[in-house]
Amino acid sequence: MTLQLGDIAPDFTLESTDGPIHFHEWLGGSWGILFSHPKDFTPVCTTELGAVAKLKPEFDRRNVKVIGLSVDGIDEHHAWKGDIAETQGTALNFPLLADPDREVANLYGMIHPKSLETLTVRSVFVIGPDKKVKLTITYPASTGRNFLEILRVVDSLQLTAKHAVATPVDWRWGEDVIIVPSVSDEDAKSRFPKGWKTVKPYLRVVAQPGV
Ligand code: BEZ
Repeated sequence: MTLQLGDIAPDFTLESTDGPIHFHEWLGGSWGILFSHPKDFTPVCTTELGAVAKLKPEFDRRNVKVIGLSVDGIDEHHAWKGDIAETQGTALNFPLLADPDREVANLYGMIHPKSLETLTVRSVFVIGPDKKVKLTITYPASTGRNFLEILRVVDSLQLTAKHAVATPVDWRWGEDVIIVPSVSDEDAKSRFPKGWKTVKPYLRVVAQPGV
């Protein structure tokens, strides 16, 4: 069954480059990003893991733990780390899960046989501190992901969780946001004491809280 937004992210225990991971315990009270890539020693995957390693301080700042997965074994993962450091100019600084038995890949629906017969495609799951799935994205093997976009989505999700605002199209950090429809004008007065602009009764624009 496909994992849907709002579902509890399935728990698992699996070997990783940082040792065994008990997923829910490892997440603790943090946000999490679990992402799969098709195969070790492949070009696009090598660039992606380097990019995520470079962005690690940004994920840390947002209280987000990142973890990768492929259906290769732990020995391949360890051997590949040297290539990532050599070619991407950064060490792998987050765990990479080894799932040769496709246990987690199947649990999370990361194998799309009509796209890639036996390997994982480029799935992304953003998981909240409540362990619920907040975002899913699926890319084909041939397209490297934009992890800056994933950071942007995390910012949006965290703003929604904290301030009951939504973010409009192409929103970037610091730009105006939208008061969610479930907040009444009466509630909005206490949440946004500096006021907001009512473009339509359902479209209320407010300065981004927390900047
Ligand atoms: C890559 O990472 O470059 C890749 C992996 C599997 C299929 C196609 C490309």
